Amino acid sequence: MSAPRQRVSHWTPGPLRTASIVGTGSYLPHRVLSNADLEKMVDTSDEWITTRTGIRERRLADAREYTSDLGAEAARRALADARIPASKVDMIICATITPDMPFPSTACLIQKKIGAMKVACFDVEAACSGFIYALEVGKQFVMTATCDHVLVVAAEKLSSIIDWKDRNTCVIFGDGAGAAVLQHVEGSQGILAASLGASGAQGDLLCVPGGGSQHPSSVESVRAGLHYLKMSGKEVYRHATLAMQQAAEDALHRCQLKIEDITCVIPHQANIRIIQGLADRFDVTLDKFYINLHRYGNMSAASAAVALDEGAKEGRFKRGDYLLIIAFGAGLTWGATVVQW
Ligand code: ACO
Repeated sequence: MSAPRQRVSHWTPGPLRTASIVGTGSYLPHRVLSNADLEKMVDTSDEWITTRTGIRERRLADAREYTSDLGAEAARRALADARIPASKVDMIICATITPDMPFPSTACLIQKKIGAMKVACFDVEAACSGFIYALEVGKQFVMTATCDHVLVVAAEKLSSIIDWKDRNTCVIFGDGAGAAVLQHVEGSQGILAASLGASGAQGDLLCVPGGGSQHPSSVESVRAGLHYLKMSGKEVYRHATLAMQQAAEDALHRCQLKIEDITCVIPHQANIRIIQGLADRFDVTLDKFYINLHRYGNMSAASAAVALDEGAKEGRFKRGDYLLIIAFGAGLTWGATVVQW
């Protein structure tokens, strides 16, 4: 007969720890698709794309290079930057809307590729806001001491869901991946406060209608192009700036900081006019923002992650500085997070 289980009458959680970003990495596929290339594919012009979006070129993954490959390489670079071996990772969270397949999760596929054994793995789907959502989720596990090292990856192969005949969308998006390693660091405030939100009522403004339980993949669904990304660009644009401003103000308010305290803003890289609109609303110049959309276009969840890594590597901010990461995307979703670097 087994011994009766001891009843645990009092379980008191320990004090919460802070969670810092201790390493970042990114990976961009080598193939470059320029605006001039697109002029040969659809009825568009370099002038239209540049003035309406700010994008000059974007990267495209090869046919046999999948989202998990992009994410795994970004993850390896982030782990090397953090000087943490894959064997020490406790959890992998991947933010993506372009998983390799419906399941298993892209996080599990990345786990296999980087050789991180026995870790918890799952995906977060919040489109362009995905990196911010995933950072906030990962932060909780470090804060509660459930995990010591959380690997957050944001990876997208948007070229796999683009209709290359649709000039409204094909000029905007690109492929890429970024990653960040979270860990408690004594004396650092780390990821301070976030503001996350969504408005599912406007989900149809930006979606891939096919391939799920509503329109399972079939000859008819493919013929109707339901597997392609559909976007009401103007409507999304209309909501983007205000939602990002409000999320940023809320996140700053939660940690009692002001925009003047922020050394660098890392915005989602959708459109230079949206970023300019945000700068105007905050009454700051564009110099305060890290911008790389002219080189990569909109990489959904990966945009902010890649920009964070490039900003760090270029020395745009140093340890101790405050950063503000802001994004907006399909869902509709939005988010802002304040980080002490
Ligand atoms: N080349 C030439 N003309 C074009 C192109 C093109 N590539 N695309 C559209 N046009 C035309 C349109 O047909 C339209 O012509 P019409 O006036 O004769 O009808 C005209 O240009 C204006 O089109 P709009 O859609 O009104 O252009 P707008 O200035 O709004 O710019 C854009 C479009 C760039 C898509 C903008 O609306 C935008 O950036 N929206 C936000 C996108 C975003 O932030 N998405 C969220 C993240 S993505 C995610 O979550 C996956």
